[in-house]
Amino acid sequence: MSETSPKLRAELEGIPTYKPGRPAAADGPVAYKLSSNENPYPPLPGVLESVTAAVGAFNRYPDMACTGLMAELADRFGVPLTHLATGTGSVGVAQQLVQATAGPGDEVIYAWRSFEAYPIITRVGGATPVQVPLTPGDVHDLDAMADAITDRTRLIFVCNPNNPTGTAVRRAELERFLDRVPGDVLVVLDEAYREFVRDAEVPDGVELYRERPNVCVLRTFSKAYGLAGLRVGFAIAHEPVAAALRKTAVPFGVSQLAQDAAVASLRAEDELLGRVGSLVSERTRVVETLRGQGWTVPDTQANFVWLRLGERTADFAAVCERAGVVVRPFAGEGVRVTVGETEANDIFLKTAESFRKEI
Ligand SMILES: Cc1ncc(COP(=O)(O)O)c(C=O)c1O
Repeated sequence: MSETSPKLRAELEGIPTYKPGRPAAADGPVAYKLSSNENPYPPLPGVLESVTAAVGAFNRYPDMACTGLMAELADRFGVPLTHLATGTGSVGVAQQLVQATAGPGDEVIYAWRSFEAYPIITRVGGATPVQVPLTPGDVHDLDAMADAITDRTRLIFVCNPNNPTGTAVRRAELERFLDRVPGDVLVVLDEAYREFVRDAEVPDGVELYRERPNVCVLRTFSKAYGLAGLRVGFAIAHEPVAAALRKTAVPFGVSQLAQDAAVASLRAEDELLGRVGSLVSERTRVVETLRGQGWTVPDTQANFVWLRLGERTADFAAVCERAGVVVRPFAGEGVRVTVGETEANDIFLKTAESFRKEI
C-alpha cells in the first residue's frame, strides 16, 4: 500500500465538522430532545399520506425542477417562479449561495455567535469569514456589520431571528442597514424561524426583497413545518441570484418525498400554524418562568431560548441530561433550549430552577 495519502485542500484544516444537536438517549430515563430546534409534533395525516404515495416510486429520480413545489411557493408568496430556488434544507441553499457569490480572497460577513454552519460553508467555499460580535444584549450589531464591509465583501448573512439567541432585528434598523450595503453585495436574510415571529416590528424578508435586487430570503420546511428529516428549503431572490442558485444546486438533491411533503404541508398550513401558535404560547410560559426564577433571558422570536451560562454551560447541560432533556451547549458561552412538548419544557424549567438556586 502507498505511504502517501490523497492531497486535500489546505483550507479544510481547522474547519470544524458541523455539530448536530445530540439525540435523546434510546434507553435510560425518559429523554426529550431539545437540542435541534425541531418541531415536536409528528407530521399531519395529510402530509403522511402524500409521502406514503411517493414511497412506491423511489426507484425513479425526483422531479429535478421541483415543479409542483415551486408552483405552490410562487402562489403562496406572490413571487415569479424565476425568483425561487430549492435545496437540501436551507443550509443546502446557504451553501449554494456562498458558492454562487464568494471564492478565495472574498469575504462573507455574519454575526457571531450565529448559525454555526456559516463559518463552515464560507471556509469550505474558500472564502474568508468576517465575524461581527453580537451586541452585549445578544442582538445583531448591524452598524458594526455595515462598517465591516470592504471591497472584498460578497455576501452578508443576517439570521433573523438569530440562532442561537432567538433575538430579532426590527424593520427600521434592518432597512437602515440595507441602505448602507452596496448593491453588488448580496444580503441573505436567513428566516428559518420566521413562522414563530410575533413581534409586528420584525419585518418579513419577502416584503424587503421585492424592491431590493441584492436581498435574498432563505426559508425552510424543517422548523415550523416539521419536515427536518426530509431536507427541503428554498430561497426567494431576484433572477440572477435565483438562477445562480439553480446552477450551484446538487442535481436531484430534493427527494420526491420531500417535495410532496412540502406541498402537502403548505396545503395544511392552517393546522400547522395552529401548532406553531401553541409552541409560541409555550415559549411565553418558558421565558416568563425562567425570568421569574431570576434568569436573564433575551427576548426570543424563535422556537428556542438562550441562557448565557458562560463557564457553567457544560454543567448545566449535564444536569439537564440527567433530568431527561437534551439541550444544546455552546462551550463557555451558553445553552440553547428548544421549546418542545409541555412535559419536556416542564422538566427543563424544574431543572433550571434548582440550578439557579445553587449558583
Ligand atoms: C438559522 C438557521 N438557518 C438554517 C438552518 C438550516 O435548516 P435546514 O437545513 O434544516 O433547513 C438552521 C437549522 O438549525 C438554522 O438555525
